[in-house]
Amino acid sequence: MRAKHGTFAVVVDAIESVTPLIKTFRLVDPDGEPLPGFSGGSHVIVIVGDGERVYRNPYSLIGSPFDTRSYEIAVGFDANGRGGSATMHHRVKVGDRLEITYPANQFPLDRLAKKHVLIAGGVGITPFLAHLHELAVATTPFELHYGVRSQAHAGLVGRIAPDLRKHSRIYPSDELGRPDFASILSGQPVGAHVYICGPRGMLDAARAEAERAGWPDSHIHFELFDQQTTGQPFSVFLAASDMQVDVPPEMSLLEAAEAKGISIPYLCRGGACGYCETEVIACEGELIHRDIWLSAADRQANKKFMPCVSRALCSKLILNA
Ligand code: FES
Repeated sequence: MRAKHGTFAVVVDAIESVTPLIKTFRLVDPDGEPLPGFSGGSHVIVIVGDGERVYRNPYSLIGSPFDTRSYEIAVGFDANGRGGSATMHHRVKVGDRLEITYPANQFPLDRLAKKHVLIAGGVGITPFLAHLHELAVATTPFELHYGVRSQAHAGLVGRIAPDLRKHSRIYPSDELGRPDFASILSGQPVGAHVYICGPRGMLDAARAEAERAGWPDSHIHFELFDQQTTGQPFSVFLAASDMQVDVPPEMSLLEAAEAKGISIPYLCRGGACGYCETEVIACEGELIHRDIWLSAADRQANKKFMPCVSRALCSKLILNA
C-alpha cells in the first residue's frame, strides 16, 4: 500500500443500493493486502473529483473492526449538497481507484460505561454499525434506537446481526413519529453513556433531553453528519500563507484554501475535532461560528475560527493560516 500525504489508495470492490438514498461502497487494497486497523466509530475522508472540483467528505466505517480485508462506507445522497455525494452515487464505479485518509476515531464507545444507549437518525446509524460488532463480543449491555423516514429507508438494518436486533428498536417516522427521547433516557442505570448521531434537529432534541434529565456532559457523546458548510461568499487574508482567499458560496474556507494549494490541517471536516482551529488576527464584522468545538466563551471572544465549517460577514478578516 502506498501512502501519500496521509492518504492511501483503495479500489472500489462493490457498490450496493441499500435504500432509495443510500449506497454502500466496499473498498479494498489494490494489492489485496489488509487495510489499516480501526475501531468502532472511526471515519475516513474520501477524496473524489468530478472533473471540476475535488471533494473530501468524511464517512464512517460501517464494517467489522475485526475484519480489515475491506472497508465499507455508506453514502447518503444529498440533492442539495455540494456535489460530493452526487459524485459518489453517479460517477464512482466498481474498479475505480480512490484516495482515502487513514481511519480516525472521534466517536468511540466509552470503555468504562455501565451501559451504552445508542440513538441514531437516518444515515447517522453508520458509526453504530461498527460499534455493534464490538458490542457483540463485549459484556456491557446496550440498546439501539434508530429513527428512519419509513421502512423503505431502513435498509441498513440489514447490516445488524440478527442476534443483536433484539437490542434494537426501529422508529419509521411515518408510522411511529420520532423516538421518545425522554422515555429512552429516563430510568437508565447510573454510569450509562448515551451516543447520538443524526441530523441536527434530532441531535439537538436528544441532547437537550439528556441534559434536562441530568445526564452528565461526560456521558453524552454525539456526532453530527450533515453540518452545513456553505453560505454567503466571504474573503480572508491568510497571513502565514501570504495569500488572499475568496470563499464562494458552495465551498468552505478549508476547501477554498485547498483549491489554492494551501494546506490547513483537518480531521473531521465537520466542526467537531478542533484540528483546523485557526487564530483570528483581525476581524472587522461578524464571524458565523458553526462548529461544535469552540466554547461559548471562545465564540464570543472571536479569536478562533474553524475553517471547515464557519463563515464570516466581515469587511476585513485576517487569519493565521
Ligand atoms: S477539521 Fe475538525 S473541526 Fe475542522
